Amino acid sequence: METQLNQIREQSEKEFSGCSSVKELEALRVKYLGKKGELTAILKQMGTLSAEERLVIGQLANAVRSETENRLAERLSELKTSEMLESLESEKLDITAPGRKKHIGHLHPITAMEDEIKEIFMGMGFSIADGPEAETDYYNFEALNIPENHPARDEQDTFYITDKTVLRTQTSTVQIRVMENKKPPIKIISPGRVYRSDAVDATHSPLFHQVEGLVVDKGITMAHMKGTLETLMKRLYGEDCKIRFRPHHFPFTEPSAEVDFMCFNCKGAGCRMCKNEGYIELLGAGMVHPKVLERCGIDSNIYSGFAFGMGLERTAMRRYNIQDMRLLYENDIRFLERF
Ligand code: DAH
Repeated sequence: METQLNQIREQSEKEFSGCSSVKELEALRVKYLGKKGELTAILKQMGTLSAEERLVIGQLANAVRSETENRLAERLSELKTSEMLESLESEKLDITAPGRKKHIGHLHPITAMEDEIKEIFMGMGFSIADGPEAETDYYNFEALNIPENHPARDEQDTFYITDKTVLRTQTSTVQIRVMENKKPPIKIISPGRVYRSDAVDATHSPLFHQVEGLVVDKGITMAHMKGTLETLMKRLYGEDCKIRFRPHHFPFTEPSAEVDFMCFNCKGAGCRMCKNEGYIELLGAGMVHPKVLERCGIDSNIYSGFAFGMGLERTAMRRYNIQDMRLLYENDIRFLERF
């Protein structure tokens, strides 16, 4: 028994110092001091010894036990300290390191332009209407007073899905859809995508965006149209912005006009931006043609209205001084980041 005890003393000492984690040390505690541990087993056998032997072996056994317990406690605190230091080291946070920049996106210039225009019109009491992009020939042409053989169809050649279904060439389609479904007073704008079979260049794209406007009520005159469009332009280009109306022709309005605004660059003097005109064309407008009203079931003797349509790309290009329309569709981050 004496040799066993000495062996345990030596063996446990070695194992304690060789052990490298709190978990391993706990296993060693069980191995020696647990209920079925080696040292415990020896202590249990004390009863089988004679009185003299018990005196000697008992003393030794007690000494080995308390030594083992002490060494265990010591080693435990050493291991706990070093494990704590290790975790502190591995979780170390360098608060002096520079932060990582988060890239937050922003609205595309076309979307921003659309939102700005919506905001202006909502402030004047307009609501927003919507219509399909795949349209029937009827809504895109016929109902807008553009019959089958009308030359305006050439200017607005588009993509035919079937003989009678096209990708709409203008948001004016929404005028008809709204008038068919709602009695006056009507006061809407309708932003959206339109299509034409144009080749891509700096000022053309087969897909682009328009904002349509329509007001129908009793006693609507060109003065209302002028006031509304003047407000729009002043909000877009500043209080000192002047506008001018030029006679024009659109099949669905009578009279019709093209509306220009004073060049913001030269204030009307003439420069490269406005091709020496002093004014820049912005939109088409006019008084809704009585035929168009009647076709939608609105009595043109009681009601009148005005309508207008503008290109979003052009407006954004002027607003942000973008020279090439293609830039708006290429999704080049170096370009988009400028806004
Ligand atoms: N839809 C026309 C175009 O795409 C623009 C336009 C002109 C719309 C006159 C109108 C309008 O509502 O009254 O060229």
